Formats: sequence, structure tokens, C-alpha cells
Amino acid sequence: MGKVLVLFDTQSGNTGKMAASVAEGAASLAGTEVRLKHIDEATGEDLVWCDGAAVGSPTHLGQPSWKLKKWFDECGVWGRVDGRIGTSFSSEGGHAGGALLTCLSVQLVLMNFGFLILGITDYAHYAYTLHYGATTVREPRQPGDIAACLALGRKLALAVRNGHVDVMEEGQTGPRLFREKPREG
Ligand SMILES: Cc1cc2nc3c(=O)[nH]c(=O)nc-3n(C[C@H](O)[C@H](O)[C@H](O)COP(=O)(O)O)c2cc1C
Repeated sequence: MGKVLVLFDTQSGNTGKMAASVAEGAASLAGTEVRLKHIDEATGEDLVWCDGAAVGSPTHLGQPSWKLKKWFDECGVWGRVDGRIGTSFSSEGGHAGGALLTCLSVQLVLMNFGFLILGITDYAHYAYTLHYGATTVREPRQPGDIAACLALGRKLALAVRNGHVDVMEEGQTGPRLFREKPREG
């Protein structure tokens, strides 16, 4: 059974809503056990427990929150979690506010902890890709926002199940692409 940890910080709830959808996406793959935890309730043992982690933070000054960084500084399991698979997500206040930079900063921390970082070729929806993680402006409310979070979690669960070698769905031979804009309504 694959074990996925969705670990997040949130100040006003937006990244927390993303985290819930990421967890739902991971749980949609049969056989995946999911823990959804705010950093205030998580310990380093949650990182040890997991096979893969999706780590989320609000974007603060173009970076992860200081609380998330502090959590990793102090979790005490560096050197005990090598080889796990990691990805990240972030909510920002406005487009180009730095959420992708936050995702990459989180990934740097995960790499420092020995995680293998999951790059994702799929599009989750029209004009929503996941190459460096999932981002939303404020709360996830557009269908694409939620689809991106669900797809991030599911892809992580697939990577965990397949050992980071084969993360395609059954019968899938290439990236999912949304070439046509779906009709409204
Ligand atoms: C201290 C602080 C710094 C912020 N810096 C940025 C920023 O650099 N870029 C941005 O787009 N939004 C910034 N924001 C806005 C938050 O990223 C945005 O409101 C986000 O949705 C909050 O997520 P949360 O509800 O999970 O806390 C900042 C907010 C705070 C409180």
C-alpha cells in the first residue's frame, strides 16, 4: 500500500483548501493511504511514515512561510527519509506573485532531505499544467484550480505505487493535453 503525506501551512485557509483536494486526488488511487496534516499537528515521524509527500505553503514574499521552513529546520528526521517522492503546491495573492518560486523553494528543501522530485508533464485542465507543482490565486475556486490539486495528488500516488518509474495511468502512453478549451457550463 502506498503512503502519501499531504503536509501544509496556511494562514487564511487557501492553501489548506488546496491540501484537501490534493489529499482527495491521492486517495482516488485505490490502495493509497493518505495523511492530511497541518504543520502544527505533524511531526517528523509523518515524513518517515510516508512514501511520498506533497508539501504546500502560502506564498509569503515570494517564498514559503517562515513557519514551514521552521518545521523542516526542526523536524529532526533529516537523513531518515531519503528516496521518498516529493512535490509541492502554493497559493498566492495574485498572478505571478511568486507561487512557483515557493513551489521550487519547497522542492529544494525536499531535495536536501533526499526526496526525489516529481516533475509532471500532464495538463490537469485547459491552461493548467503541473510541471513544477500546483498553484492557485487565493482559494482554489475555478474548475482548473481544483483539477490541478486533484491531479497533483493522484500523480504523486501513482508515482509512489509505481516506484517513480512508471507514472502513467493504465493505457496512457504520453502526457495528457487539453488542446481545446471546454465549453462554459
Ligand atoms: C506576510 C505575507 C506575505 C505575502 N506575500 C505574497 C507575495 O509575495 N506574493 C503574493 O502573490 N501573495 C503574497 N501574499 C498573499 C498570500 O500568498 C495569499 O493571500 C494566499 O492565498 C494565502 O494563503 P493561505 O490562505 O493559505 O494563508 C502574502 C501574504 C502574507 C500574509
